[in-house]
Amino acid sequence: MSDAPGPNDAQAEYWEDRSSSWIDSEGWWLTAVAGPFGAAALDRLEAQPGGRYLDIGCGTGPTSIELARRIQPGGVVEGVDISPSMIATAQARAADAGVGGITFRVADVQVAELGDHLLDGVVSQFGVMFFADPTAAFTNVRGGMRPGSNLSFCCWQQLFSNEWMFVPGAAAIGITGWMPEPLADGAPGPFGLCDANRIDTVLDGAGFRDIDILDVRAEVVVPEERIDDAVRSVSRIGAVREQVERFPDQREAIIDAVRSELHDRLDGGHLTLASAAWAVRATA
Ligand SMILES: C[S@@+](CC[C@H](N)C(=O)[O-])C[C@H]1O[C@@H](n2cnc3c(N)ncnc32)[C@H](O)[C@@H]1O
Repeated sequence: MSDAPGPNDAQAEYWEDRSSSWIDSEGWWLTAVAGPFGAAALDRLEAQPGGRYLDIGCGTGPTSIELARRIQPGGVVEGVDISPSMIATAQARAADAGVGGITFRVADVQVAELGDHLLDGVVSQFGVMFFADPTAAFTNVRGGMRPGSNLSFCCWQQLFSNEWMFVPGAAAIGITGWMPEPLADGAPGPFGLCDANRIDTVLDGAGFRDIDILDVRAEVVVPEERIDDAVRSVSRIGAVREQVERFPDQREAIIDAVRSELHDRLDGGHLTLASAAWAVRATA
């Protein structure tokens, strides 16, 4: 990427700073959290062998790698992410997986050069909620897509429908008493596209049609013996991490409170926390 200031520099800095924690916790993310939603996004893409695809905000590449498998022989997928460390890990993961037809690039998808109507489809697993100007970003994405091709992504519904984020965050607030300033509606972040009406307005404004927004509900299920892994993972990213960073002296008390809250919710040897996302599909 060039050194000129970009519209999403704050997010670039945030994700690069969080990348090592994200990479450490991605086992939890992929197995316990993202699975059913990412699968819905990939299935609804209806990718075809031999096609050319883009994965927005690919992170360490799980969706790009799965998509590359689905589009052989002859298909190609490019995973794009704003964080260089995420892309370096994605490249290593793809090499380990031995999958062909896959490349990665560090870029801000809002302004990246995406070619002129060459893509046969675009997918994203929770990588589209962080744009400073979502309409500009999706307009740029549509410009890279062949008319009639599919955009398919998943994004979080509101916080209170996602107990897996809300419950640990609330336990941490119970210790520090500090309530983070709520982000403005639609501000870049995990809930940047949590309002289905806004998704519709943004995609319509970007020139997409046949916008189909599916309400997908799932559960994050953690067996009792994995609670400590869950505590570790939720403490390294998101709301609990913010609390720990702001109140380093209370780190242990915060983490103990999260652990105890999750233990209290065990039922029959399992912890079950609701999760909810939108699976969105639209036609370029
Ligand atoms: C929640 S993570 C999801 C990563 C990956 N899709 C997964 O499911 O494992 C969001 C990703 O979006 C990337 N991202 C945020 N803003 C971006 C932008 N403007 N352009 C490209 N990537 C972006 C972040 O660096 C991060 O890797």
